[in-house]
Amino acid sequence: MINRINSFGEYWSAYNESVQNPEQFWANQAESFFWRKKWDSVLEWNFEEPSVKWYGGSLHNITENCLDRHLFTRGNQTAIIWEPNDPTQAAQHITYKELHERVCKAANILKNNGVKKGDRVCIYMPMVPELAVSVLACARIGAIHSVVFAGFSASSLADRLNDAEATVVLTSDGAYRGNKSIDIKGIVDEALAKSPTVKRSIVLRYANTPVTFTEGRDIWWHEEEAKASAICEAEPMEAEDMLFILYTSGSTGKPKGVVHTTAGYMVYAGYTFANVFQYNDGDVYWCTADVGWITGHSYLVYGPLLNGATTVMFEGIPTYPDASRFWKVIEKHKVNIFYTAPTAIRSLQGFGLEYVEGHDLSSLRVLGSVGEPINEEAWHWYHDHIGKGHCPITDTWWQTETGGIMIAPLAGVTPTKPSFATLPLPGIQPVLVDEKGEELVGNGVEGNLCIKFPWPSMIRTTYGDHERCRLNYFSTYAGMYFTGDGCRRDEDGYYRILGRVDDVINVSGHRMGTAEVENAINEHLAVVESAVVGYPHDIKGQGIYAFVICDTHVPMESSLLKSEIIATVSKIIGPIAKPDKIQIVKGLPKTRSGKIMRRILRKVAEGDISNLGDTSTLLDPTVVEDIVAGAKLV
Ligand code: WT7
Repeated sequence: MINRINSFGEYWSAYNESVQNPEQFWANQAESFFWRKKWDSVLEWNFEEPSVKWYGGSLHNITENCLDRHLFTRGNQTAIIWEPNDPTQAAQHITYKELHERVCKAANILKNNGVKKGDRVCIYMPMVPELAVSVLACARIGAIHSVVFAGFSASSLADRLNDAEATVVLTSDGAYRGNKSIDIKGIVDEALAKSPTVKRSIVLRYANTPVTFTEGRDIWWHEEEAKASAICEAEPMEAEDMLFILYTSGSTGKPKGVVHTTAGYMVYAGYTFANVFQYNDGDVYWCTADVGWITGHSYLVYGPLLNGATTVMFEGIPTYPDASRFWKVIEKHKVNIFYTAPTAIRSLQGFGLEYVEGHDLSSLRVLGSVGEPINEEAWHWYHDHIGKGHCPITDTWWQTETGGIMIAPLAGVTPTKPSFATLPLPGIQPVLVDEKGEELVGNGVEGNLCIKFPWPSMIRTTYGDHERCRLNYFSTYAGMYFTGDGCRRDEDGYYRILGRVDDVINVSGHRMGTAEVENAINEHLAVVESAVVGYPHDIKGQGIYAFVICDTHVPMESSLLKSEIIATVSKIIGPIAKPDKIQIVKGLPKTRSGKIMRRILRKVAEGDISNLGDTSTLLDPTVVEDIVAGAKLV
């Protein structure tokens, strides 16, 4: 059993111990996991290179902790409840025993296809049980998984395959999302035409949609499974062996492959799951995130399974067949702990209470929020109408790079305040710094959020480019990990996340680099230049606002041009990156050195044109007048 904090007093003693004696603290937590060999040293680190090593000298396999260790105690308990997109189709209940067997078989499929420890395997699949099985199968044999969210385009997928030099792709024929059917295999085929390292694509027959097979490269999962043994010894892994790569957007154009290693990630994912959600044995837990994001990795697959929980995996979307689907699923599977994103809450709130009423939500005990700041209105709606006033809400702040939840109330233990992520978890030492990098001490301060001491699941490197990791996260403020977020610590010492301070937009809880979207827009033949900023959006949190200069030689009607630009972005990145607003402009506000003054564009996008600040340093200040005038028409 993973140690659990049960009172606010216990939280403070755990927290103080974790700061005063971090190695002892994290050694104690690690004791509740199964190791083939225990560690020689708990932690070695420096943030200059950076180099961070937890549990050095140990051997373990995370799947033995997620599966094998539960076989005697809870082999017949449900590990995964799979709820399909189509509510008339039956849900699946997969026991720990069955999951173990399916993972071992899938691991053998990989082995039979030449996959070895350290090889990169890309997983591009809908939210079906085989997605979780694939992740665990990789971990079982020490292959490094790189899950790519199945909403990304072929060209995004190809970029990720090439960066990781993946040799195998696990995928499916098609997929369903709401009333749409998606040609997953077609997207993979298009990506593989540009991904020479991939030698095998293993295709799950799921939607029974027509596919074309490339001889020698593509094979059916079910045919391989028929040949695979159900016994597969877990590969003993060293603590700092890579467990997975997960790509995320930054302020520069190219997404980076965040690398997590196995031992520290396991301890932190397991520990934080138990504590933040105050998980009790037998609870049914539902995280609505896709496994393609870090939330799905840490709190749909690994965290719950490490704790022997029953985790719900939902293939569909919140509004299909209608906006009551979430509440129907909670009632149907008697969900006790529910973890979702503010964007989903706001969207469902907009449909009205009639979709909530009439559903029995009495099984709920804990509610969670993740991905973006939760505004007070959404917080209260979630608290009053979903939690019926008695379920604590845990607003969890963390990042792809942090691997696990960093700042959050322990549900029902830490007193909450709407829109505050409250206090750091044990082992996490947040600091706020000013522009010069001076630490802001005391309470009632606001600055850039950094972490000054390592924690077990932190990013180790960006795949194939360690210098990029150093520059991105460890060079802005010497000796600290920089999160990219602004943050306020109020008079009570409570943390409130204010949002990104870099060129990253948070759209519906998903990270989007402005440069990445601009590069995609610029691919359109009629576009000369573009600049993208975020603006407040009622449902998405932030929307994407694009200012675009077009080639006047290309005669095109502006609404057609706009829809073509949207289609271009969708094709290059994926539908999640589509601009919400496009303004065709004659020029962009640039300084004499050619730098775009995004501050002005942000103000215009926010509709706050009364105070544009100093525009005298602009090369051509009249550009701003044009933009302001044009903005009214967007
Ligand atoms: C960025 C990380 C963490 C998993 C999902 C997103 C923002 C995340 C919160 C929160 C305010 C939040 C931050 C962060 N963010 N959670 N509870 N309150 N902001 O992971 O894609 O790596 O994005 O999401 O800006 O830096 P991600």
